[in-house]
Amino acid sequence: MRELRYNTLMRKKETFTLHKPLTHVAFIMDGNGRWANARGLPRHLGHKEACKRLREVVDTCREFDIKVLSFYAFSTENWNRPQDEIDHLMDYLEDFFHSEMDYLMSIGTHVIISGDYSKLRPSTKQVCDEVIADTAKNDTFVLNICLNYGGRDDIVRAAKAMAEEYKEGKIGLDDFTEANFSKHLYTMGLPDIDLMIRTSGEQRLSNYLLYQNAYAEFVFTPVKWPDFRRKQVIDCLKEYDGRNRRYGGLKNE
Ligand code: IPE
Ligand code: IPE
Ligand code: MG
Repeated sequence: MRELRYNTLMRKKETFTLHKPLTHVAFIMDGNGRWANARGLPRHLGHKEACKRLREVVDTCREFDIKVLSFYAFSTENWNRPQDEIDHLMDYLEDFFHSEMDYLMSIGTHVIISGDYSKLRPSTKQVCDEVIADTAKNDTFVLNICLNYGGRDDIVRAAKAMAEEYKEGKIGLDDFTEANFSKHLYTMGLPDIDLMIRTSGEQRLSNYLLYQNAYAEFVFTPVKWPDFRRKQVIDCLKEYDGRNRRYGGLKNE
């Protein structure tokens, strides 16, 4: 008995050494509704629980010195949901920023919102504006929240912005390079995604960061987002670490 208690007290947090470079991890936080339904709860309580997981996921990634994290919070297709669910999602998002602002500042977070958040209700838009302004000078790590985000919309807008510059004579055809193009995306030249994790067992991109995911490693886990904790993050990092990233070449690692 004593030994058991001793072991419990002394149990070290699981960890491992990541060998591969890993700068940018993108998450599709999926399965909130099913998590709630399985417990006989309304879907929106799944979204509420989901917000509580963010800090643990961020902290775990910081342990591994990951500098950029992207989270899919609301897609351009999520407008197809009932208004009541959309309202709850925006409530929880606003609550998250209000309650976690001190924490985000304390760890030097620079917040970026990808997606046309001006189309969201005024209170959500205002919170986004404030968070962006308050964290603008931070540079320890980047938190990219994708809100009213669609990958195709992102690409079309970037193409349009470059076409405008071309029309105005600011750039020539030779300036249409991959590097310049990526600076016109919402992610504004953030490093490419190394690892894309989707929870809940679905295996699709659902219009998420299509350009930025071009050479990402994908990990699909059956765990629903509200159950996604430190251990599950580490499991995904281990899987990534075992991948052979060849980039079309013949590199053996
Ligand atoms: C993901 O969870 C959160 C958002 C899309 C905003 P879902 O709400 O899609 O949960 P499931 O997939 O229906 O279980
Ligand atoms: C993708 O999840 C969007 C977010 C997680 C915000 P969805 O649940 O909306 O995607 P589909 O419907 O499974 O493609
Ligand atoms: Mg879903």
